[in-house]
Amino acid sequence: MSTSTHAFWLAGRRATGDHTFDVTSPWDGRTVAAVSVPTDAQVEEAVAAAHAAVASFAATPAHVRAAALDHVARRLGERAEEIARLISDENGKPVKWARGEVGRAVSVFRFASEEARRFNGGEAQRLDTDAGGTGRLALTRRFPKGAVLGIAPFNFPLNLCAHKVAPALAAGVPIVLKPAPATPLSALLLGELLAETDLPAGSWSVLTVPNDRMPALVEDERLPVISFTGSEKVGYSIMDSVPRKQCTLELGGNGAAVVLADYASDEDLDRAASRIATFSNYQGGQSCISVQRVIADTAVYDRLAEKVVAAVEAQVTGDPADDATDVGPLISEDAAQRVESWVDEAVREGATLLTGGKRDGAAYAPTVLADVPENVALAREEVFGPVLTLRRVDGEQAAFAAVNDSKYGLQAGVFTHDLQAAFRAHRALEVGGVIVGDVPSYRADQMPYGGAKLSGVGREGVRYAMDDYTYERVLVLTGLAL
Ligand code: SIN
Repeated sequence: MSTSTHAFWLAGRRATGDHTFDVTSPWDGRTVAAVSVPTDAQVEEAVAAAHAAVASFAATPAHVRAAALDHVARRLGERAEEIARLISDENGKPVKWARGEVGRAVSVFRFASEEARRFNGGEAQRLDTDAGGTGRLALTRRFPKGAVLGIAPFNFPLNLCAHKVAPALAAGVPIVLKPAPATPLSALLLGELLAETDLPAGSWSVLTVPNDRMPALVEDERLPVISFTGSEKVGYSIMDSVPRKQCTLELGGNGAAVVLADYASDEDLDRAASRIATFSNYQGGQSCISVQRVIADTAVYDRLAEKVVAAVEAQVTGDPADDATDVGPLISEDAAQRVESWVDEAVREGATLLTGGKRDGAAYAPTVLADVPENVALAREEVFGPVLTLRRVDGEQAAFAAVNDSKYGLQAGVFTHDLQAAFRAHRALEVGGVIVGDVPSYRADQMPYGGAKLSGVGREGVRYAMDDYTYERVLVLTGLAL
């Protein structure tokens, strides 16, 4: 691939700054593209334009916003293979997973166009239920809290940008998007598709600013809403720096998959093992809801462990551009070294390495451990790598307690056929989502998604983000013949 220079998007138009940075492939280190960096004056222009557009954009007809969102959904679909290759180049994600990500982004824009048509129909409430309200009616509609700052991570360079941008545009809220510096190219391509629409100029910008200039954007009062996806440390430091802003934080997790005693046939355990192996390793485990912890009832533990190790060993590692590859590199060699150091620590402290445990540059082999001591990083933190720990428990209550023994609470998976157990899990597990019959990694983009505990604040999922970006304003009408 030849290196090209990419412009950023300033209030809906292409712009370049006074210097560039390189985006490199985590797989082979080649330069994929050079990206232009906005100057401070250009950032100021984009923020001022977003702020100035708040009232007028909210007043655009729903059909204009819906048509723009439909257009983006269609164009993402038309250019799907090219975009999947771009994601794979900048992120190291195997192209088969990148294709899935593009498909999800198509859905996010489609859901957003549908929501744009439905949104703000208003709700009427009669007030004459008390004497003081005779002849009065309340109408409730939603209005923007102000322009949004969207800060996206590297692990889903397209779809997690889509989750910031599409709901904002659907709700008529201007957005300034800051993609991750390691993976800005998919966001810039999204800008290309947005630029093909009739959306008003100030309604969106994609600014490739480096992380050390993020605080200025975070603190800017003209961007009162922040939607951040990334690490717990950065997320809470943002929230602490602007306690009066509306912050949606999608942070880490150490996703657990529980296998209960009734999920015991060979067919059941083959399925659980295959799902667990796939979703502890998809995109190198770099997903907040990848499977990190398997908690299995002692009745099925030994058979499951054997099948999980076999399924993990069957994962195909290698070049992310190859259609057959399941597991590519991590985002950087530093990231792989950190994973290596956590696995080494766990083994030093007494864990049993069942497979994997080897690093080659930015690539880390799919790894399974058992008997992991409770005090090590691998047991307590988010590994964000292709590493799985296995734990044996006695009974359902012990399994649910083990899931909850975490500072995180994003999603949990429960393999069971027992409907009562499913409801007990829903009640007991301190997480944002319980997935019955599957891994915690299942996410449908229209459903509410977000965490309990230190996994975050607020919810994504198109309609839920639209609610987060807006507030209810009541209109009381007086003297009506109700
Ligand atoms: C995340 O890693 O936070 C997002 C996971 C997903 O969208 O599937």
